[in-house]
Amino acid sequence: MMVIDGKKTATEIRARLRGRTAALEEKYGKKVGLAVVLIGDDPASLGYVRNKVSGCEEAGVRDFAHYLPPDTTQAQAEELVRSLASDDAVHGILVQLPLPKHLDAERILACIPSSKDVDGFSAENIGKLALGEEGIVACTPLGVMELLRRYSVELRGKRAVVVGRSNIVGRPMALLLLNADATVTVCHSRTENLAEECARADILVAAVGKPNFITADMVKDGAVVVDVGINRVDGKLVGDVDFSSVSQKASLITPVPGGVGPMTIAMLLTNVVTCAERAMK
Ligand code: GUN
Repeated sequence: MMVIDGKKTATEIRARLRGRTAALEEKYGKKVGLAVVLIGDDPASLGYVRNKVSGCEEAGVRDFAHYLPPDTTQAQAEELVRSLASDDAVHGILVQLPLPKHLDAERILACIPSSKDVDGFSAENIGKLALGEEGIVACTPLGVMELLRRYSVELRGKRAVVVGRSNIVGRPMALLLLNADATVTVCHSRTENLAEECARADILVAAVGKPNFITADMVKDGAVVVDVGINRVDGKLVGDVDFSSVSQKASLITPVPGGVGPMTIAMLLTNVVTCAERAMK
């Protein structure tokens, strides 16, 4: 069994991005810019946003962080995103989810033009992914694909099972694996015989948001197991996969923390630089 080092991989990717941002600066005299919008005071979201902002510096990306209070109105949120949409110094816009309950997230996200949609959440970018066309892909599933590529995991013809069907992870993950010629099954809260479905997987991706949900009996010997879960239990981070038992059966596995998490930020920065390259050309 080998443990995938997402932290080291993410550091390499950020270092390489520095070359791309420096090249853009030299050619166009402009810095690459990412706007991050956080509304409210959810401590987990604040932590993610801080990590995203600090990742910018290492990659040579200028950050525009906007922290808005919990009582921000729909109109105020939309106005901020629209102003970022028309700001030439901003090449990517990220609105951290979830938003406070009184806000309509869909309408706020709709103010982000697809050309600055670094999360890949827009209907246009999801549509491109579904059609197998080039667009911007959601950061977390893209990070999973990059780890699988770097660790030489064969996907073509293999049985991949994705547990979870969220718009942020499960759905785009399934589409990416399908585009890579895997045979894809998506499991979710209504799936019958979920354990059996999982146990058939050559590649198992867990994105459920339940601590230690995937146990050893649900994993085939030699499977590649990717844990997208970030759950806090008694102040400790644990994944969706019961690492201590599942790692006995997997051939390759991602840890939590230090697996997929750092890759999400590296791929976000990659998406920002890609958007900037397209905008400056
Ligand atoms: N909340 C949890 N994951 C994400 C993500 O990838 N992007 C945004 N914007 N919000 C999130």
